[in-house]
Amino acid sequence: MKSLNIVTLTVNPAIDKSTHLKGLVPEQKIRCEAPRYDAGGGGINVSKAISRLGGTSLALFTAGGFTGKLLEELISKEGIESKTIEVEAWTRENFIAVDDNTNSQYRFGFPGGKISSEESQKILDLVSNLDTQFLVLSGSLNEGLSDDFYPEIAKITKAKLIVDTSGEALKKVLKTGVYLIKPNVGELARLIGRERLELNEIDDAAKQIIADGGAEIVVVSLGPQGAALVTKDSYEHVPAPNVAKKSTVGAGDSMVGGMVWALSQNKSLKEVIRWGVACGSAATMNEGTQLFKQADAKRLFEWLEKK
Ligand SMILES: Nc1ncnc2c1ncn2[C@@H]1O[C@H](COP(=O)(O)OP(=O)(O)OP(=O)(O)O)[C@@H](O)[C@H]1O
Ligand SMILES: [Mg+2]
Repeated sequence: MKSLNIVTLTVNPAIDKSTHLKGLVPEQKIRCEAPRYDAGGGGINVSKAISRLGGTSLALFTAGGFTGKLLEELISKEGIESKTIEVEAWTRENFIAVDDNTNSQYRFGFPGGKISSEESQKILDLVSNLDTQFLVLSGSLNEGLSDDFYPEIAKITKAKLIVDTSGEALKKVLKTGVYLIKPNVGELARLIGRERLELNEIDDAAKQIIADGGAEIVVVSLGPQGAALVTKDSYEHVPAPNVAKKSTVGAGDSMVGGMVWALSQNKSLKEVIRWGVACGSAATMNEGTQLFKQADAKRLFEWLEKK
């Protein structure tokens, strides 16, 4: 297999179907505008973000049924190099509706179909044959995949792992140890058994994970407060720029995309965190499931660099 820079894996992708309506009222027929379809799921969004920055990655994803075919078509339109892992269960759909009367966004998520043990083995075989510098594991796990799935990948790959997931799946993969994790502050708190964490507690919490061998780099995203990058002997908080926020959907994935792209370009960690914050914040400037525009990300990065 040819040598690659970045591979993203999405085991539980989705078709994001979004629309607008005027008034979410029970019992009545609600007229929705023509829907927009986007390929969704953590790793796929990360690949889209990398492509926005002019980079390339290989997106590995599972797909099944008619919705799986639609997913493949949507991904090919994005111009991303991809490889489908065919599965029996239909690819899930998510539904996002914006009520224009109140400007409120409703996000309905559905569980992914069940992955069989043969299919799970197929994914592991593919991953073990990959020759890539960075492997991004992003998003939730389907029914049928145990919390040990990401740790199994961590054991069989030589790639530097970038992990963006939550709950038990995140907890377990840290036992094997990875290169970089990007929890948001709530995910970091739950990871160490706390209800919440204050800004001044983040450094210690992240350093503990690093000392335990969980990760080399911990990037804690803080929504409108930006993000902090922590290594065993450094801590840097980069506040987010003030932007005209439209929707935060995909902000976390855009941030991961920006960071892994910067890492693949051998940028310094100082630049990596700034590209992450710039791409995350640029994503919030667009409606719904749309990620960021390259020009916005560049402008925000340059602004953050000057600060
Ligand atoms: N309201 C905002 N204003 C400016 N930037 C924002 C805002 N919300 C998010 N961001 C940017 O996006 C980055 C990631 O956001 P966040 O911490 O919300 O990630 P997340 O919780 O993983 O999001 P997701 O829901 O996409 O998983 C932040 O570090 C910041 O740069
Ligand atoms: Mg997230």
